[in-house]
Amino acid sequence: MRNYFLAFLFFCLAVSCIPSKEKEANTYSELYRPRYHFSPAKNWINDPNGLVYLQGEYHLFYQYNPFGTTWGHMSWGHAVSTDLLHWKHLPVAIEEYANPATQDSTMIFSGTVVVDHANSAGFGVDAMIAIYTSNVHKSGQGIAQHQSLAYSTDKGRTWKRYADNPILDIQRKDFRDPKVFWYEAAKKWVMALVVPDLFKVQFYESSNLLKWQLTGEFTGAGDTTRVWECPDLYQVKVDGANEMRWVLSLSGAHPQGSKFVGMQYFVGEFDGNTFRKDANSEHQFLDYGKDFYAGITFNDMPDQRTIMIGWLNNWTYANQVPTHPWRGAMSLPRELRLVKVEDKIQLVSNPIKEVTSLRQKEIEILSQPGSGSFEMEIHMADSSQLILSQGAEDKIVLGYANGQFIFDRTKSKNHSFQKDFSSVESVLIASKPLEITVRFFVDQSVIEIFVNGGAYTITDQFFLESGKMTLQTVGVVKLQRGWEIGSIW
Ligand code: FRU
Repeated sequence: MRNYFLAFLFFCLAVSCIPSKEKEANTYSELYRPRYHFSPAKNWINDPNGLVYLQGEYHLFYQYNPFGTTWGHMSWGHAVSTDLLHWKHLPVAIEEYANPATQDSTMIFSGTVVVDHANSAGFGVDAMIAIYTSNVHKSGQGIAQHQSLAYSTDKGRTWKRYADNPILDIQRKDFRDPKVFWYEAAKKWVMALVVPDLFKVQFYESSNLLKWQLTGEFTGAGDTTRVWECPDLYQVKVDGANEMRWVLSLSGAHPQGSKFVGMQYFVGEFDGNTFRKDANSEHQFLDYGKDFYAGITFNDMPDQRTIMIGWLNNWTYANQVPTHPWRGAMSLPRELRLVKVEDKIQLVSNPIKEVTSLRQKEIEILSQPGSGSFEMEIHMADSSQLILSQGAEDKIVLGYANGQFIFDRTKSKNHSFQKDFSSVESVLIASKPLEITVRFFVDQSVIEIFVNGGAYTITDQFFLESGKMTLQTVGVVKLQRGWEIGSIW
């Protein structure tokens, strides 16, 4: 008995001596756990929120359930990074709360963070100001959504809710996801947010972040098969032209119809009051996979790049994906550019150039990448396939034929957790070239695919039974380059 007790004591001591960094690393090696994509140590996440740079740190806030692995108790989780790739978890920034007097409870829905360099709101120079949607469950009366403010004067480490919330209320059940930015041309703050069920983006202006006036609306366009959420408005340089254009992106409809959600965008002009899309252009989709949603861009990027992070999931099955003890991850940060293709201007997205710093051992032959976390660039000729598998019964497929690029996850073994998960994504490559370039990032249960320099992207989750993968080809597939990628944790 005494020996058992001593052994137990020794075991406890040994465990408590493992440095905390190592303990953390251990929790990032579970089956399906992405090694170089952001995910929380445990529990549920959805949208990225409040992406902002301040004094050497990039901040990633996100929709977070501190109490479980399904959606609920929405609060703002928080992480910081000095390179946009390695993240350090911080305590929950803004928490769900209840009002004991009225029995109302308020969840903290999606929103923005700005840095108030000129102290326009009066909370201090360089205060971080979060503007988010309060989703109020009014006791006995259902839901109301309005916009609220919280601030931090210690680089985001602690947050206080503003005493005079809400700062914007139009008395609607659905009214959400404010994106706020500084509009230099008129030296004012601008907010874009949605009235989701009316398929409307509204624009407001403010001199102090506290009082807001409506200046314009964008509606009557785009795909309205799903409610609109998470709008963003930003300027992007057009490649090869000395020209900046405005892009309005939002989350909602998916190219495959109303069963799924996705992201669409418009290219046009913003005059400080409202956004108008180019007369000759329609909405375009940002990604043709199922798992890129609620993407927003960083405020205050030090080098003017437009960098977006999206949530790697789809509401159709997000609450059922078979991961534990976490559920949900973020995309790699993507740099957005605009290119002219004939008379149309379209977004091109690619992982930020810094991802090359994660490269480890070079992959020299296609047949054996070994681990489940790697980057690869291949050329695919017409009628070719790259098959990533655990054996004949458990595989995913990248394919190209007749101008159509596809990603097929219907033959991965673990897909029955939700009936619509099993799917084939596809995108038509303009002018149907005989050969395409496919750069893709695999990370255990996530694939981000960038075709022809990022002109087309497909982002998907998949669940093969173990992390190890074998690669096979059909037709002409040439390896250009590839690397194993290590863990960021
Ligand atoms: C988008 C969304 C937002 C909302 C948040 C709630 O995924 O539905 O509209 O603010 O998630 O978690």
